[in-house]
Amino acid sequence: MKIAIVGTGYVGLVTGTCFAEMGTEVFCVDIDKNKIEKLKQGIIPIFEPGLDEMVERNHKAGRLQFTTDLSSILNEVDIVFSAVGTPPDEDGSADLKYVLDVARTVGQNLNKYMVIVTKSTVPVGTAKLVKKTIQDELNKRGLSDLKFDVASNPEFLKEGAAITDFMQPDRVVVGVESEEAKRLMEKLYKPFTLNNYRIIYTDIPSAEMIKYAANAMLATRISFMNDIANMCEIVGADVNMVRKGIGADARIGSKFLYAGCGYGGSCFPKDVKALIHTANKLGYKMQILEAVENVNEFQKNILFDKLMKYYNNDIKGKTIAVWGLAFKPKTDDMREAPSLVLIDRIIKAGGKVRAYDPVAMEEAKKHHLGDSVIYAKDIYDATLDADAILMVTEWNEFRLPTWEVIKKTMKKPVVFDGRNIYNKEEMNEIGFDYFGIGIK
Ligand SMILES: NC(=O)c1ccc[n+]([C@@H]2O[C@H](COP(=O)([O-])OP(=O)(O)OC[C@H]3O[C@@H](n4cnc5c(N)ncnc54)[C@H](O)[C@@H]3O)[C@@H](O)[C@H]2O)c1
Repeated sequence: MKIAIVGTGYVGLVTGTCFAEMGTEVFCVDIDKNKIEKLKQGIIPIFEPGLDEMVERNHKAGRLQFTTDLSSILNEVDIVFSAVGTPPDEDGSADLKYVLDVARTVGQNLNKYMVIVTKSTVPVGTAKLVKKTIQDELNKRGLSDLKFDVASNPEFLKEGAAITDFMQPDRVVVGVESEEAKRLMEKLYKPFTLNNYRIIYTDIPSAEMIKYAANAMLATRISFMNDIANMCEIVGADVNMVRKGIGADARIGSKFLYAGCGYGGSCFPKDVKALIHTANKLGYKMQILEAVENVNEFQKNILFDKLMKYYNNDIKGKTIAVWGLAFKPKTDDMREAPSLVLIDRIIKAGGKVRAYDPVAMEEAKKHHLGDSVIYAKDIYDATLDADAILMVTEWNEFRLPTWEVIKKTMKKPVVFDGRNIYNKEEMNEIGFDYFGIGIK
């Protein structure tokens, strides 16, 4: 079986590589010439644990190829996946420009039956739009009777654990509207079925909706716990104890109940916004999701607010160590990272930042945060002469620092822990002031 994956980003590259690993012949396609050239040379454009070795192995075996020209390989494949970006437009809606560009290229070059699958996260109704776009192009070419199918196969992988998530999925969702398309998708996913992973077949609108509903539910859990955490602080409760107490209820479950300094990344913020926007357009108001967004905006500022309160609203000239820049550990993705909001506010308030992240510093530099930000060599270097530490991304290497060394280098030993990874009593015992989220 041969497939093409159009869009070689976090999702496309992982998807293509994992299908190649299962024995499928894969063309990874991207319009970014530089990216494709680098991939051909074995240079992986993103940080994702385990991906480089897997790309190299499959590329060498000839199962994984890279190209910038979809039209040149299109009619060799049985299935085309579209895994291009769907960034938010100014009004929060998903920008379908790239998805429809791919559909047009397919329609302009298609000469035989195939299934065009959308893997990108797209609003309900996009498959119809993709189908119409392809059909319009076929009509222009006088090929209105050429048969093709569209399908929806949203992706649920998490950056940082993308390969495991793809190879050992909780479930795979496939939205189809014809038996022929279903048969082809079953063939492609057979190795997963043989390994007892669950493939759920649905109609196309339901598949498109499942992805948004899943991300909206996860974002809701985060904002809900952040709201509870803020209330815990007011009433003198400890959110970690509350988390364990409610997580023990099998109906609630213990996962995804951590309070923190807000969610970020390329998915939750944009998908929540897009769902709200789609609903508004159709005359419905998603009241819970609007609150989820508002709580998250509030929460991204919470470490800054705590810092200001500690320093009586004046951090002019103070040096703030920021530990962690990526929106979560094990990725270099800086999209919508809470660290960006924090750093911006520190600088605007006249503070200086010494930032450190194990892998995201190059990505962070692309955000041009200004001369008041110094990128440190490691966490210790970041705390040099610092008036406070803000723990923003819970990388493993931040979990057990040698506090005695850090205390000596800092001007004032105080930690604002945005991910609740340290223990208040222990920190106080070694002479640090400590502030977590939702902790007395
Ligand atoms: N990143 C995640 O964790 C994740 C998880 C699940 C779903 N998604 C969804 O998957 C989609 C892709 O996300 P991503 O993070 O991989 O995006 P990305 O920005 O990392 O990659 C998108 C790629 O598409 C390429 N591209 C754009 N137009 C093209 C075209 N016409 N032809 C060929 N290539 C083109 C870009 O050059 C880029 O390399 C989005 O809809 C996203 O919401 C992302």
